Amino acid sequence: MRVGVLASGTGTNLQALLDSVHGREVEIVAVASDKPQAQALERARAAGVPARAFPAGDHPGRDARDAAIADWLAAAGVELVVLAGYMQLLGAGFLARFPDRVLNVHPALLPAFPGLDAIGQALDYGVKVFGVTVHLVDEGVDTGPIVLQAAVELPDATGRDEVLAALRPLEHRLLPEAVRRIAAGRLRRDPANPRRVLT
Ligand code: GRF
Repeated sequence: MRVGVLASGTGTNLQALLDSVHGREVEIVAVASDKPQAQALERARAAGVPARAFPAGDHPGRDARDAAIADWLAAAGVELVVLAGYMQLLGAGFLARFPDRVLNVHPALLPAFPGLDAIGQALDYGVKVFGVTVHLVDEGVDTGPIVLQAAVELPDATGRDEVLAALRPLEHRLLPEAVRRIAAGRLRRDPANPRRVLT
């Protein structure tokens, strides 16, 4: 299965995919970013994967940028799009190009704490259990059907960095595992409850 990855930041989740499933169960064939300076682009190039930035200023609006990214991914034969820390919302037009084939990793146990600064939200709420969700992307903010989740008990956590350090290994395990299962054709919706993803 040919995979495209979108990332805005440091790209540690991209790296986890490059190190675990790339060249094995899947081929990562394109990495795109909204940020030309994103370390994720360097990681892709270092692995020999075509990488390209789509900065906002190059396009008349979000839909136009989404369409340019979708065209670039489609030209590379991408069948599955993985959002690995992509900090932009994708519109309906983009999602319609890859139906049920856009995956996101979020650093909270959805449906708790969607959107920005999920770890900060969880800390402010005072939770004792933190976690990671891999889900299909729909038009909402972190509202799509859940594919995999994992949790960690951190009853005394007070700082974002501490929580992030505990969640990183979960993210780096869960995201490749979700990709593996999709590549193996295991992902389907429960006919009795289409929100429920069977893997
Ligand atoms: C991760 O925490 C992910 O859950 C969130 O953005 C972050 C990306 O980190 N969506 P990285 O760029 O993969 O290191």
